[in-house]
Amino acid sequence: MSEETVAFDIENGIAWVRFNRPEKRNCMNPALNRRMMEVLDQLEFRDDVGVLVLSGEGNAWSAGMDLKEYFRETEAKGLGAVRKVQAEAYGWWRRLRWYRVPTIAMVNGWCFGGGYGPLFACDLAFAADEAQFALSEINWGILPGGGATKVVVDLLSMRDAMYHALTGELIDGRKAAAWKLVNESLPLEGLKARVTEVANTLLKKNPVALKATKDAIRRVAEMTYDNAEDYLVRAQEAANSFDNQARKEGIRQFIDEKSYKPGLGAYDK
Ligand code: ACO
Repeated sequence: MSEETVAFDIENGIAWVRFNRPEKRNCMNPALNRRMMEVLDQLEFRDDVGVLVLSGEGNAWSAGMDLKEYFRETEAKGLGAVRKVQAEAYGWWRRLRWYRVPTIAMVNGWCFGGGYGPLFACDLAFAADEAQFALSEINWGILPGGGATKVVVDLLSMRDAMYHALTGELIDGRKAAAWKLVNESLPLEGLKARVTEVANTLLKKNPVALKATKDAIRRVAEMTYDNAEDYLVRAQEAANSFDNQARKEGIRQFIDEKSYKPGLGAYDK
């Protein structure tokens, strides 16, 4: 029987998704990465999900990649196997970065290395003061790959990113907030209530505007001012036309009224 590597509940519009290997400090093995993609797939377009929160069972958020199963055992199978597990891990992080609904990382405990991929993929991040973060790659002789280097360069100052990556030292939730790795840090006992409060704020907003806004924040970071200005005009216009009545009318006349065929001509305006 395979272990259930990901747990989730849906409650009042919020999907609470949890890394679920607490006995392994929620490190990400290939099975977890595959399962997480399936869960994200199942939840993304449900009408009863308006926000997704990612947290961990037990005292860890995620202890990064599974050094035994993701690295050692996979490397023993050759390069093809390595590329496959990388694609599975990076795939769900990418899926999360561009997820339909806003996402919140609720960092309840340990967060290491590969964990920075999903941490960054979440739009917002709230940590327990007690949480511990590190780019521990340097401690076992590799560089922070899988996007982790990019994450700290994007979020932290160059000096903090360099110090963090070169020393592998732990920082707690408070320092992670001071360094802007997360939005806020607060005592663990109040973490879920605060995340619920933020999620409820988001649930009151227009979902089309939320998706357009979260994508815009990520996209414009890599654009010149002029390109961003242009993109934002178009993104807003695309959002405006999301409920385009004309398009619905065209489908109605073809499917319901059978008064024209889109392959042969235009519908009646
Ligand atoms: N990969 C594989 N197994 C892990 C990992 C991991 N990343 N993290 C924890 N485990 C396993 C341990 O081997 C142990 O397994 P066992 O019970 O079969 O012996 C179990 O999880 C519990 O771990 P402990 O070390 O006993 O737990 P403890 O609470 O004492 O320590 C801590 C927690 C600090 C998180 C420690 O487990 C640790 O250092 N883990 C590795 C963190 C890390 O550096 N991750 C890699 C980052 S780099 C990258 O992701 C690319």
